[in-house]
Amino acid sequence: MKRYSIALIGGDGIGPEILREGKKVMDAAAEVTGIAWQWKEYPYGAEHWLQYRKGEPTLLREEEMAELGAHDAVYFGSVGDPRVPESVGQAGALLWMRFYFDQYVNLRPAKLLRGVESPLKGKKPHDINIYMIRENSEDFYIGLGARFTGNKSSEIFELKRKLYKARFNVDVDVAPEGDFAYQIGAVTEKASERVLRYGFELAKKKKMTRVTVVHKANVLTKVYGLWIEKAEQVARDYSGIELDFAIADATTMWLVRRPEHFQVIVAPNLFGDILSDLAAATVGGLGFAPGGNINPDRKAGVSMFEPISGSAPKYKGLNKANPIAQILAGKLMLEHLGEDRAAELVEQATEDILEAGKVRTFDIGGTSSCSDMGDAIAERLLQLKPSGGHSPCLSPEQMLHDNT
Ligand code: IPM
Ligand code: MN
Repeated sequence: MKRYSIALIGGDGIGPEILREGKKVMDAAAEVTGIAWQWKEYPYGAEHWLQYRKGEPTLLREEEMAELGAHDAVYFGSVGDPRVPESVGQAGALLWMRFYFDQYVNLRPAKLLRGVESPLKGKKPHDINIYMIRENSEDFYIGLGARFTGNKSSEIFELKRKLYKARFNVDVDVAPEGDFAYQIGAVTEKASERVLRYGFELAKKKKMTRVTVVHKANVLTKVYGLWIEKAEQVARDYSGIELDFAIADATTMWLVRRPEHFQVIVAPNLFGDILSDLAAATVGGLGFAPGGNINPDRKAGVSMFEPISGSAPKYKGLNKANPIAQILAGKLMLEHLGEDRAAELVEQATEDILEAGKVRTFDIGGTSSCSDMGDAIAERLLQLKPSGGHSPCLSPEQMLHDNT
């Protein structure tokens, strides 16, 4: 029996309640497919910080971060609480985790599931089926820059990544004086190459024929000039897959006008952040938007799976939030662990429940609770017998039975 050790971090707001449902569904998936989970819960979040870490810039300490690295994956709820400075949960947990474990792929699929209505008219299930990949280690997310008032500023910045180290020595002389701010974006050959390659490999695995590479090389000529050059180089290794370039602003328009065009999208970090929310909106909203922060080399760094919704503190403790994004994040976790069959079953059970329409959370016009949804999907999953072949719905015995 395959056994996976998973770190659970509920975090803040709706995090703990949606994670509970995610875990419930993962337990059902394990029961059906014969794998085993070894869960370990960690308390990191606003409450814990206020009690034990107050004043520190991060939610967890470095040795605690390192401890997470010993697991096979991190299954994460969300962070963000009005009582804690924003930077603690964001730069001090979420972004830190992405950089610390070099989770350079941010996979954020947007698929219109059976039983969900798109706000775009006339869309049928699976008409929208996009593998959005966001570069997750650099670009304008490196957090380097300065703000000053006066004529002069001198700063030295260090950028430390697993792939490289860089030092910036920035002197600014400005006249006339006034408030001034700048922020550095960095794009490197190595980081671009690996995430673009991941995009093409995923297209190959999923039998998709087009990879759209988002940029803004017409204006941000240095950073995205390098980015598109690398895309061209990588694409040469994949003759059956079309390389499609799309400028970021136009991409927002086409995602609304013709989302069917997109199969795999690879976007730089900041554009990927924006486009993944937009793509989520086309498939029912953030309640349906999972994310994987992935280091494809499991030995080099643990990966983290989360809904992209954030902590929605307003709904905390109401057992009201839609847990599907969290459940689908679990599906991504299963795929990452190589448990593709279990992953398929999770999606199928989710779609079956949505399509049946009896259990619906408030974001999709229903009155069911968060745990109703988790229960329903877990129960449905237990009814699904994997065949070991292509169709996960019927066992060979059932198929035989159906044919006679
Ligand atoms: C996301 C969020 C984060 C990001 C924030 C909370 C730091 O918006 O995961 O998309 O910008 O990456
Ligand atoms: Mn975001």
